[in-house]
Amino acid sequence: MEANPPKRKETRKSLRIKVISMGNAEVGKSCIIKRYCEKRFVPKYLATIGIDYGVTKVQVRDREMKVNIFDMAGHPFFYEVRNEFYKDTQGVILVYDVGQKESFDALDAWLAEMKQELGPHGNMENIVFVVCANKIDCTKHRSVDESEGRLWAESRGFLYFETSAQTGEGINEMFQTFYSAIIDLCDNGGKRPPSSVGVSFTKEQADAIRRIRNSKDSWDMLGVKPGATRDEVNKAYRKLAVLLHPDKCVAPGSEDAFKAVVNARTALLKNIK
Ligand code: GTP
Ligand code: MG
Repeated sequence: MEANPPKRKETRKSLRIKVISMGNAEVGKSCIIKRYCEKRFVPKYLATIGIDYGVTKVQVRDREMKVNIFDMAGHPFFYEVRNEFYKDTQGVILVYDVGQKESFDALDAWLAEMKQELGPHGNMENIVFVVCANKIDCTKHRSVDESEGRLWAESRGFLYFETSAQTGEGINEMFQTFYSAIIDLCDNGGKRPPSSVGVSFTKEQADAIRRIRNSKDSWDMLGVKPGATRDEVNKAYRKLAVLLHPDKCVAPGSEDAFKAVVNARTALLKNIK
């Protein structure tokens, strides 16, 4: 009699991934990683010199992952050291300090640096990015609000988390969601699954919210020239109201932008005969 071959238990391979951190100096990249891996916080600033490398094993959903973390120095001085570490990366932790507007404005430059180093054949589409709006414990000095950061991240298909390496707020959730998205990416043959790329608002809506936020007066907010007629103001208002109506627009910050547009129209019409 032939023995039945032993049934093999369905075990899934553990994943090996590479993750890098990016963002200006002193925004808290090393502290975020330390908080997650070592459950501690160091208040004293110890600048990363070039790159810090570490490897950690984590269990996410039912998967074991071996994560190689390359924690990059944010200081421009270390550009030459950083540039060779961008390749073959599955995940990027992009960090800014909510009390330092420049560190938020610098996010585009960080993406550009990575893109340049990956070269023309590099594909930024198939990397999971998570944006950490860090130091949310410093509420007094906050200069970038949640909707502004979230809009920047989500309009690019990036994850967004509010974090504090000091208190630990948001850190575990951020890593769990980030790693989970990387598992989905690996299971999908290294391509971002279509469901994760979909953005639930349009570029036109995101651009309008940004423009309204940065406008210098009510004319500018509605996108009409100073001295415009009632008709022109109403026309511009209607266009924006349809675009940003809270029932139709789910982009972060759309509610405030909608209210600002309503107020701008009221203010302008008061003074136009
Ligand atoms: P570079 O290595 O130079 O690129 O800096 P980094 O981004 O790694 O910054 P690091 O993690 O070294 O933190 C910089 C400073 O910010 C340190 O003094 C930290 O203690 C402090 N810091 C980091 N995260 C937080 C936070 O969430 N809240 C507060 N209050 N301070 C933080
Ligand atoms: Mg560091």
